[in-house]
Formats: sequence, structure tokens, C-alpha cells
Amino acid sequence: MQKRYHIGVLYSRMRVEEKWIFGAMEKRGIDYDRLDDREVSFDLEAPEPWLSYDAVLERSISYTSGLYSLRMLNTLGVPTVNKASVAEICGDKLVTSAVLAKAGVPQPHVVTAFTPEAALAAIEAFGYPVVLKPVVGSWGRLLAKVNDRDAAEAVLEHKATLGSVQHSVFYIQEYIHKPGRDIRAIVIGDRVITAIYRKSEHWITNTARGGEGELCPITPEIEALCLKATAAVGGGVLAVDLVEHPDKGMLVNEINHTMEFHTAQPVSSVDIANEIVNYTVEMAKKGKE
Ligand SMILES: Nc1ncnc2c1ncn2[C@@H]1O[C@H](COP(=O)(O)OP(=O)(O)O)[C@@H](O)[C@H]1O
Ligand SMILES: [Mg+2]
Repeated sequence: MQKRYHIGVLYSRMRVEEKWIFGAMEKRGIDYDRLDDREVSFDLEAPEPWLSYDAVLERSISYTSGLYSLRMLNTLGVPTVNKASVAEICGDKLVTSAVLAKAGVPQPHVVTAFTPEAALAAIEAFGYPVVLKPVVGSWGRLLAKVNDRDAAEAVLEHKATLGSVQHSVFYIQEYIHKPGRDIRAIVIGDRVITAIYRKSEHWITNTARGGEGELCPITPEIEALCLKATAAVGGGVLAVDLVEHPDKGMLVNEINHTMEFHTAQPVSSVDIANEIVNYTVEMAKKGKE
């Protein structure tokens, strides 16, 4: 008889991805709870309700509440998808870049600085255009393509004056003249299960910003690069964003640990939600061994 596992899914909002994940749970008859991250709490003296889970899948939109929930759960010994240590790396673009650099994974050139003056000096040394990004963020929000010194000074001053504390970490990246698209590859464990191109007239190709999905063949190069990148950050259920550099070839731009796949699933016909559920059940199984 198949063993029953008790799974928790921590989520913020019923996006289409959560609908598909819950649907896959139900189809397989899995005993699971929907845990709204706006309602949950962790009582350090009474953690029992959390200990009842064999694994928890984290789908929070808020990086902070997701990360702290994972930290609490992992401290309690509850297996999670993804692990807190993976979220710590992937949720922060600078930490991701540092880990990728250490592992020798090809990526766009990144420099960081902590004051507008030091950032301007770094940008000038880079040459234009450059891209400035908040270290925590998604959906292409608050990315700035800086084409000249005037723009650099303006963006740096705005960030320093109007930005939250987080915006005082200046993440500066070379601008890649990519062919009107980037690649989103979905990795689950040690498999690249699918990949799509995201095409756009705009330099920001996120589907949340109007980028259009098209199936991308998983070449041996894409597969090897994605697996090297995901292994470097600790593995799990991850989306790797790749950009094609005209000279340097395929580079890893970022890795997402609670990815959306509302475009990748229909475009590829791969049941990503079901693969995520399978992986979570495997985690539960491993935790019990
Ligand atoms: N250095 C860059 N050069 C060219 N395009 C970039 C660069 N960085 C990001 N982009 C474009 O912007 C999109 C969003 O950037 P990304 O770093 O993935 O931030 P987010 O976390 O908001 O998705 C990428 O998918 C890519 O199309
Ligand atoms: Mg991205």
C-alpha cells in the first residue's frame, strides 16, 4: 500500500500556478493543507502543528515571509521545497551571482558597490549601457538600463534618496545585447524538464511584462549549464534565466526559487505543477527514511 504523506503548501495568492499545484495534489489524492502565509504563525513553544507535515512546499510571493517560514521549518526539521539555504541564495541576485562566480558558472559581468559615489565609479569603469537592479525583486520591476553618465547620476540619486535600505546595495551588470529574447529553463532535482524562450521588443522579456513564450529546445549546452547552476545554489525546484551573449555565449542571469510557470506549462505541454508535486512527495519520503 502506498504510504500517506501530509504535505503543506504555503502560498500567498491563488495564482494559476497554485491552482495547478492544488489540482495535481487532489488528482493524486494527497493529504495536503493550503497554508495562507497571511494567516500562519509559528509558536516556538508549540510547534506541533508544523511538525505534522512530512514536507512543505513554499509558494509565497513575499520573499521575506517565504524565507523566514523556510528557516523556521528547516530548524524544526521539516523538509521544504525549496530549502531555506537555497532561498537565501536565489532570492538575492548578488548572493546568487557570488555563488555562481565561485562555482565557475558563466554569467554577465557583475560589480557591486554600497554608495552612489562608488557605484558611479564602477559604472564608469564598465562603460555604457549598464543595468542596475534591486538585489531582491522579480517581474522585471525597478530594473534600470543606464545609457550614459547623466542617467547613471539620476538613477543613483533617486535610489539613494527615495529607495528603501535595500536599494543602497547597488547591483551593476553589463548590458547584454541579446537576440530579443531570453530563456527560462525549469529544473526539478537533477532534470531540466522544459525550457521556453521569452521574446519581446522590450529589453525586459519577463512574461509579466508582456514577453511571449515559445518552446526552446533543451540543448546539451542548456542542460549542462542549468544543472551546474542549480547544483551551485543547492538544487531543488528552480527556474534558471539564461541570456545569449553575442560573444560569450549562454550565460546564467538569475535563478528563481518560487517561479511562476503560467507560460512555460501551456507552451511546453509539460505538467510542471505535477512535477513539483512529485518532487515534494519525494522530499517527504526522504525525510521519513
Ligand atoms: N544585463 C542584462 N542585459 C540585457 N537584458 C537583461 C539584463 N538583465 C536583465 N535583462 C532582461 O530583463 C529581464 C529581467 O531581469 P532579471 O534579472 O531576470 O530580473 P527579475 O528578477 O525581475 O526577473 C530578463 O529576463 C532579461 O530579459
Ligand atoms: Mg528573471
